[in-house]
Amino acid sequence: MKRIAIYPGSFDPVTNGHLDIVERGLKIFDKIIVAILYNPGKEGLFTVEERIEMLKVSLKKFPNVEIDTFDGLLVEYAKKRKAHGILRGLRALSDFEYEFQMALMNRKLNREVQTVFLMTGLRWIYTSSSIIKEAAQFGGNINGMVPALVQRKIKEKFAQTSTPDKRKSKMQKNDN
Ligand code: PNS
Repeated sequence: MKRIAIYPGSFDPVTNGHLDIVERGLKIFDKIIVAILYNPGKEGLFTVEERIEMLKVSLKKFPNVEIDTFDGLLVEYAKKRKAHGILRGLRALSDFEYEFQMALMNRKLNREVQTVFLMTGLRWIYTSSSIIKEAAQFGGNINGMVPALVQRKIKEKFAQTSTPDKRKSKMQKNDN
């Protein structure tokens, strides 16, 4: 039987930390479905279509990875996709409480789906999509934290919103 995991998230945008989790998750699962939460009420820096595109390019070397979107309850989506596990990365301690809460709620909602945590690689322990975007919006060097394509796309985004006020409002819509 093929072991399938859902790796859910906002991926706004994908970082090298996410890619590390996918690569290591593939050592446990036969297939990983990277599932972007579609949330019309929460506008990100990138549209869902842009996030899909960046994930596709970044993960093209892995044949057993699929990119998809979902809305509603994660466990319902996992059931629909016949997944056995939900894969999440854990960084610093600060992630723990939220992740613990979410995993327990998901377990209460569906006991058949197991949440599996992978500790983030040491190199990525302090990186997140939001901190990378924040650094980038003020011209900080995000080399090596995101795939090259993503780095270019972030730069383009902030070039489009070039005045400080526009940048600020773009970032405020965006708390990932
Ligand atoms: O990358 P993120 O933003 O930390 O991902 C959060 C995500 C998408 C995994 C989480 O918000 C989620 O699963 N949302 C779907 C609704 C749901 O099932 N919530 C958990 C139980 S109430």
